[in-house]
Amino acid sequence: MQVLVIGAGGGLGQALVRYYANQGATVQALSRQHMSDQPGQWFTLADYSLESLQAIRPQLQQPDVVISTLGILHTNGFMPEKRLADVNLEQLEQTFHVNAVLPILLLQQLLPVLPNKAPCVWAQLSAKVGSTTDNYLGGWYSYRASKAALNMLLKTASIELKRTHKQLCIAAIHPGTTDTQLSKPFQQRLPAGKLYTPEQSAARIAAVIHNLTAENSGGFWHWDGSALPY
Ligand SMILES: NC(=O)c1ccc[n+]([C@@H]2O[C@H](COP(=O)([O-])OP(=O)(O)OC[C@H]3O[C@@H](n4cnc5c(N)ncnc54)[C@H](OP(=O)(O)O)[C@@H]3O)[C@@H](O)[C@H]2O)c1
Repeated sequence: MQVLVIGAGGGLGQALVRYYANQGATVQALSRQHMSDQPGQWFTLADYSLESLQAIRPQLQQPDVVISTLGILHTNGFMPEKRLADVNLEQLEQTFHVNAVLPILLLQQLLPVLPNKAPCVWAQLSAKVGSTTDNYLGGWYSYRASKAALNMLLKTASIELKRTHKQLCIAAIHPGTTDTQLSKPFQQRLPAGKLYTPEQSAARIAAVIHNLTAENSGGFWHWDGSALPY
């Protein structure tokens, strides 16, 4: 199996590379971070700009599975908004850029590498809080809205690509709350047993992907394999 992990330097990215390498898959990994101690073939990019992706594209193998982990919740400059008064242009723009804009441009730029006559899963890590139906708590304006936008962009692409890539499955997957730097500031409020290790989550994400076929393309999935509402 040929696997491509994009955003491979983060908590879930590294765990996914290790998971698939341990399963005997051939793994290619794209990251802005240089990782010399990880399995797989690593490519270090300056960024995920169109120029960087086009430069790396000729070196990519045709994948059976692509997983992009790209996403931000907080930075040194901001934390998720608790109230309307916290909403600001910089946070909205930066969060939408990483969570929604970059992932759909990744798909656009790497489409030439995907098989158009063989099965392939393109999975992007999303988040349950990006479900509009499931939003009972409010808050986290930029993160919620950018993940909802991400889900819509992926669903829209899935409809178009059914015509040209009949065996392609595009999926948005909620990995569950996982012990990475992204969830660090929020871990103390979690009920016991609700924080998963990157290894647990990687195995669950891979299990969801394993069960997907082209008929499921455009779906939004919980890590337990159940469908999430948009
Ligand atoms: N951890 C959780 O509890 C949790 C829960 C729900 C959903 N998720 C989702 O799961 C995904 C992975 O999260 P994680 O926990 O592994 O977080 P993480 O360790 O922070 O990794 C996030 C990844 O996003 C990329 N990234 C971050 N900032 C970026 C920027 N400014 N420009 C381009 N790429 C950037 C990084 O790629 P590089 O390799 O290039 O650095 C990194 O690998 C995210 O999409 C997140 O929203 C996580």
